[in-house]
Amino acid sequence: MPDGPLAGARILVTGASSGIGEATARVLATRGARLAAAGRNRSALAELGEATGAQALPGDLLDPAEARATVRRALDALGGLDVVVSNAGIGWAGPFDEMTPADIDRLLDLNLRATAHLVHAALPALRHSGGRLVLVGSIAGMLGVPGEAWYSATKAGLAGFADALRAEVTPAGVGVTLVTPGVVATRFFDRRNRGYDRQRPRPVAAERLAEALVAAVEGGRDELVYPGWLRLPARLHGGLPGLYRALARRFASPPTALRSA
Ligand SMILES: NC(=O)c1ccc[n+]([C@@H]2O[C@H](COP(=O)([O-])OP(=O)(O)OC[C@H]3O[C@@H](n4cnc5c(N)ncnc54)[C@H](OP(=O)(O)O)[C@@H]3O)[C@@H](O)[C@H]2O)c1
Repeated sequence: MPDGPLAGARILVTGASSGIGEATARVLATRGARLAAAGRNRSALAELGEATGAQALPGDLLDPAEARATVRRALDALGGLDVVVSNAGIGWAGPFDEMTPADIDRLLDLNLRATAHLVHAALPALRHSGGRLVLVGSIAGMLGVPGEAWYSATKAGLAGFADALRAEVTPAGVGVTLVTPGVVATRFFDRRNRGYDRQRPRPVAAERLAEALVAAVEGGRDELVYPGWLRLPARLHGGLPGLYRALARRFASPPTALRSA
């Protein structure tokens, strides 16, 4: 039986039916965590439940009431919450003016609105447990990736939210970890309107990110940028934005979608 810091921890993971969320849930299970796993795909959640003991919480977070209902059901299942991993999210790629109004709303509603309601509903339980909130952002939110303008904006919103909320809730004993992945090999790209069509960076395995994410939670870290080399462009973008833009124009491989735009 594991006896590390997450042994017996009560953890809700959204987007646990696939990709980063599923890999994270599987790693958390090896640490002895008790899990509630949210997602839409019931059979994937059932499979995860068989492997990890996770309680399946099927539901569509685009339904405005679902985020709060998910937290309520997680509290019923686990009797409290020590960690919440808000990970469910979707992308969209291509020129911004080719998005439909419904595309814009869908990204906003899942990546930001549902997250805000999930966090708002979970905070009383996290304050009670002195727990930790984990928000899965994206390097797109730090760098502003061409061809992913609105996705970048939703993830930049999450990063701003994480920073400000951390300052608000840390005095109450609640930690906030912002996870900033680069390109990860998941179904994310098959599900959006265009696949991954850049030559670099090469996708990393979701399992490796999940191990790093869980280590960040165990270590009480505020931030995880993964893979670590992405901290360099992130710092350059923050500190010397003009130089970053010049280098990005010179060296970044543009997505196919924009080459012809
Ligand atoms: N892959 C990358 O390169 C990458 C890079 C940076 C950040 N991220 C972020 O990482 C997070 C996880 O993405 P992933 O790469 O693991 O992609 P993924 O394999 O497509 O997983 C997305 C998860 O979100 C869930 N989800 C999607 N729409 C939902 C909805 N309407 N209601 C409830 N759950 C919904 C999915 O559930 P169902 O399968 O049940 O529909 C799935 O579990 C996202 O926030 C994404 O923005 C990914």
